[in-house]
Amino acid sequence: MIIDGKKVSDKIKSELKNKVYKLKEGGIVPGLAVILVGNNPASKIYVKNKQKACEEIGIQSRQYLLDEKTSQKDLLELIEHLNKSTQTHGILVQLPLPSHIDEFTVAQAINAEKDVDCFNASNVGKLILDKSNLLPCTPAGIIELLKRYHIQIQGKNCTIVGRSNIVGKPLALMMLKENSTVTICHSKTLELENFCRQADILISAVGKQKTIKADMVKPKATVIDVGINRNSEGKICGDVDFSGVFPKAGFITPVPGGVGPMTIAMLMKNVICAAELHLSSPLD
Ligand code: GUN
Repeated sequence: MIIDGKKVSDKIKSELKNKVYKLKEGGIVPGLAVILVGNNPASKIYVKNKQKACEEIGIQSRQYLLDEKTSQKDLLELIEHLNKSTQTHGILVQLPLPSHIDEFTVAQAINAEKDVDCFNASNVGKLILDKSNLLPCTPAGIIELLKRYHIQIQGKNCTIVGRSNIVGKPLALMMLKENSTVTICHSKTLELENFCRQADILISAVGKQKTIKADMVKPKATVIDVGINRNSEGKICGDVDFSGVFPKAGFITPVPGGVGPMTIAMLMKNVICAAELHLSSPLD
C-alpha cells in the first residue's frame, strides 16, 4: 500500500487552519520568517513550497532572500532583529548555507522559542529529555504518517539509514520515545543489508538513489523514503528502488508525495505552536 503524504498533509493543514483562525480571533497572526542565502536551486523550491503552505493556512510568511556573499555578521544581525520582532513567531534559515557561514553559530543565534526547525542545541537537548515543545519537522512528519496509517511502532524493529542532524539522529530519538527498537546505520556500516532485513520499519535518509533494494527489505515491512535525488533522466526520485521494493513492502512512501509534504505540514504546526507559546508568554 502506498502511503499518501500529500493527502495526509492536506488534512493536517486544514486542521491547522482552524487553529490559525482561533489565534487571529485572539489578535495574534502567526508569522514565519524564512531566510535563504544564495541561489541553491533545490533550496529555492523548498522555500517557495513553505511560503505556499503559509498562504494556504493563513500564516504570515516573510522571505529574506540574501545574496550568496552575505556575511555571517549581517545574517546574525538579521536574526537578532527577527528574534526581537513580536510579529515573528518562527525563524527558519534554509540549509545548506554558503561555506563561509557556520551553520551551528547561525542555529544558536535563533531564539529557542522561535526555532521552528528545532536545530539549536537547547532544543536538541530538550528533545533528548522529551521536553521539547517544537519537534524537528521531517522526523515528526514521518511519525505522524505512521500513526495516521495505524502502523504499529511500539515493539517494532526500526532501522534508520543515515545519521544526519536533521533527520537520522533526531528520528532515532523520537522512534525510541515511541518504544520501537532502533538501529542507526550509516556510510561505514558493514553489511547494511542485514540490518535493513531485520526492520519492520525501514527508513532511508541518505540522499543516494537505489540505496534500498528489494532484497534488503523484510516482507511486509513499512518502507519510508526520505531521499530527494535526481535520476539520470533528471526526474526526482528517493533512496529506495521503488518499483523493486513496492511489491515486497507492506507500506511504502513514494517520492515525491511521501515525506516531503509532511515536513512542510509539521513546520506549519511548529509555527502555530510557537505563536501559541508566545500567547502564554509574550515577549513584549
Ligand atoms: N534543508 C534541507 N532540509 C531542511 C529543513 O528541514 N530545514 C532547513 N532550514 N533547511 C533544510
